[in-house]
Amino acid sequence: MKKIDVCLSPEIMHLYNVHDRTVVVVDILRATSCMTTAFAHGIDSIAPFASLEDCLAMKSNGYFTAGERDGKKVEGFDLGNSPFEYMDEKLKGKKIAFTTTNGTQAIAKSVGAKEIIIGSFLNLSAVTEFLLVSENNVLIVCAGWKGKVNLEDTLFAGAVVDILKDHIEPDCDAPLAAQHLYTLAKQDLNGFLKNSSHVKRLAKLGIHKDIEFCLTPDRYNVVPILHDGILESGDWNSTIKTY
Ligand code: MLT
Repeated sequence: MKKIDVCLSPEIMHLYNVHDRTVVVVDILRATSCMTTAFAHGIDSIAPFASLEDCLAMKSNGYFTAGERDGKKVEGFDLGNSPFEYMDEKLKGKKIAFTTTNGTQAIAKSVGAKEIIIGSFLNLSAVTEFLLVSENNVLIVCAGWKGKVNLEDTLFAGAVVDILKDHIEPDCDAPLAAQHLYTLAKQDLNGFLKNSSHVKRLAKLGIHKDIEFCLTPDRYNVVPILHDGILESGDWNSTIKTY
């Protein structure tokens, strides 16, 4: 049976051998939810960057610059980190350079994996179906917050482990812990996360509607995949055919 593991913080990525794994990078609030939304609304591609400077430099190559630091849009960038910004018609067919406090750092730390895809509640079923038909073992990398563990990414990992439990075997205790947590929370994800650190951080910035949106399962049927440092996508069926 294939194996699934969960890395609860990018700080412990060195403990995992990713060469034979499909890595699912997750930053529910809000980086990977924004990426999923952007592809579902017709973006051409996303170039993820760990550094602000590298991201900004892409402007001269015709890219829209996007992302945040500490939850706030970066001065001089075209877009921030709300999924609602990525529904804009004017972004259809365009390229985005993206950098965030945690999400794009987790992507950078996953380089070397056999395959890297982007997960969020918004594309939960598409991701689990993708993992089911893939031959690779799986590692879910939770972006967390500046090296610390967070609840929302762990809950997503738990949802994936729970959905795939009859097909992919947990490799350690982190997937089991995540699954238990998800079982406790799944009837009311919003309520469960009420006192979580990033929900409180976003609330202080006046950001509320993004949270409910990012916790909605299965809005979209896209699976963003990293190819040569660039995220690309298709809908679920075309993803299977193309990749
Ligand atoms: C991140 O990558 O750290 C997050 O997406 C932060 C945020 O909510 O803007």
